[in-house]
Amino acid sequence: MSLIAIVGGTGLTELEGLHIRESRTVETRYGPPSAPLEFGRFGQQDVVFLARHGKGHRLPPHQVNYRANITALKAVGVTDIIAVNAVGGINPAMGAEALVVPDQIVDYTWGRDFTFAEEGNVLHVDFSFPYSDSLRASLLVAGKKASLQVHDGGVYAATQGPRLESAAEVNRLERDGCDIVGMTGMPEASLAREAGLNYACLALVVNMAAGRSDGIITMEEIERCLKTGMQNVRALLAAFLSQ
Ligand code: HPA
Repeated sequence: MSLIAIVGGTGLTELEGLHIRESRTVETRYGPPSAPLEFGRFGQQDVVFLARHGKGHRLPPHQVNYRANITALKAVGVTDIIAVNAVGGINPAMGAEALVVPDQIVDYTWGRDFTFAEEGNVLHVDFSFPYSDSLRASLLVAGKKASLQVHDGGVYAATQGPRLESAAEVNRLERDGCDIVGMTGMPEASLAREAGLNYACLALVVNMAAGRSDGIITMEEIERCLKTGMQNVRALLAAFLSQ
């Protein structure tokens, strides 16, 4: 039996259409997850929802307890995770409000608790293909059903934040082959892999990355894109969950 979790990021702290039956506070050996897990039904599907940054968006990307989040989801029987991430666009084809289902990731984060491996539990998981093919395919089918244009593939650059990048850093990310940039894709994806959970990302571009537009990046611009773009994310997720 599979059980899907949606990990909502910036702009998605709750899931419209999710009928919550239970909100459960889960403790893990790594501490509490970002928020209570919300158990509910969406259409015919059982779904677990977790707000990555906590209720009220309390936690900056480097202070999210990714290990507790993944551990809590696994403990309640989750098998598949759809991670929703707001990102900046590097590839000009992935402009504001674009939806992207990336197929690769480069990790630039540091200083985060990034693994379950420890003395006596040495893990070297394969991470050649960080995202689940079947979940990616289902997201793409859902995009079609919802009549949304979705980019199939792309490289997600996971940066440390919380500040945005310099223009030169974005140039470097582009030279590295990255298409979009966000702050929360790692270590979430690799911890899911270590935990044996299927994982895919649905990214919403909320700004062009630093140096890719005239002027600086403003929170007003990001919030405007979040507001309109998240409607499309919700529509895609609704189609995904009713498959
Ligand atoms: N850079 C990093 N993370 C982000 C961005 C960005 O430009 N936009 C939204 N999340």
